[in-house]
Amino acid sequence: MIVLGIETSCDETAAAVVVDGTLIRSSVISSQVELHARYGGVVPEIASRAHLEIINQVIGDALVEAGITFADLDAVAATRGPGLAGALLVGVSAAKAVALACCIPYIGVNHLEGHLHAAWLQNPGVELPLAVLLVSGGHTMLVAVYGDAQYRILGQTVDDAAGEAFDKVARLLGLGYPGGPVIDRLAREGNARAIRFPRPMVGDGLDFSFSGLKTAVLHQVRRDPDASVADVAASFQAAVVDVLTRKLDAAADAIDARTLVVGGGVAANSALRASVDQLAADTGRAALIPPAELCTDNAAMIAATAWWRLRSDGPSPLDDGAFPSLKLPTSGTDTAAH
Ligand code: KG4
Ligand code: ZN
Repeated sequence: MIVLGIETSCDETAAAVVVDGTLIRSSVISSQVELHARYGGVVPEIASRAHLEIINQVIGDALVEAGITFADLDAVAATRGPGLAGALLVGVSAAKAVALACCIPYIGVNHLEGHLHAAWLQNPGVELPLAVLLVSGGHTMLVAVYGDAQYRILGQTVDDAAGEAFDKVARLLGLGYPGGPVIDRLAREGNARAIRFPRPMVGDGLDFSFSGLKTAVLHQVRRDPDASVADVAASFQAAVVDVLTRKLDAAADAIDARTLVVGGGVAANSALRASVDQLAADTGRAALIPPAELCTDNAAMIAATAWWRLRSDGPSPLDDGAFPSLKLPTSGTDTAAH
């Protein structure tokens, strides 16, 4: 089954062709980062207009790269939420247009479920249950995955998302937007032990808090404006990675996870990837860390998830809209691991 996936929930316009939920035939991503950089964050109106301008081209490129035409498609999917309302509408409308024109089913996909599926998109045989750390610009959560559509949220942030903390700290250090990749690069030149930033909520359940850490960086910069920016970046990153890794460890223990997974944009962070690899080695678990292009927003994860949802739930009705505040569906499978 050939599925075209479309993703426009934030500032990436993406389309991908995935066969049978596992084989990526193409994955095209057009980033709007440059359009938003001067504002220091994503401007919703600019995002939806930019999606609208490029969506047809991105879809066309995904088909060409996959070596197929519209006539070869068996289904079409788009992210229906969570995300920016106007941005989501562009992808949802484009997908419905393709569904109508080609007489194929349309599937509205949950973006968070997409990130979870990215993990086993290329590794369908992975050992369950998974302890998944989902860290992006909009979300930070720990999820137990017992199987397709069997999710349980173990913990989440009570304030800022981890990616948001990277973006805000980069802004206050004058490093530009988006902050994650810049801090990741700069941290390699700095001393991660130069400043001992707090590790918020470590040892205190599976929820996260990052707004205090961001404030600690602000105070540090005010106290010592001449400190090396690379040292501040490296020390901040070390604090975030330490918290994320220790909470993932605690979550894995709580559900007796076989496999550790990291997903979402922050999973592209090189220090976090190395730290989770080390944790897996230390605890005798497998680590599944998708390539960076499957961690950040992409449409392959949407097409893959759609394949599963079509099999379990059938097509979505065409009058189904976009849902900006859509939550991850949870199944209450607390005991399914045993
Ligand atoms: O998943 P994503 O592409 O979009 C959302 O759904 O939010 O995540 C974007 C977030 C941004 O906050 C960005 O700064 C962060 O992921 N990010 C990183 C890295 N690459 C992207 N954070 C830390 N290190 C990175 N290398
Ligand atoms: Zn995302």
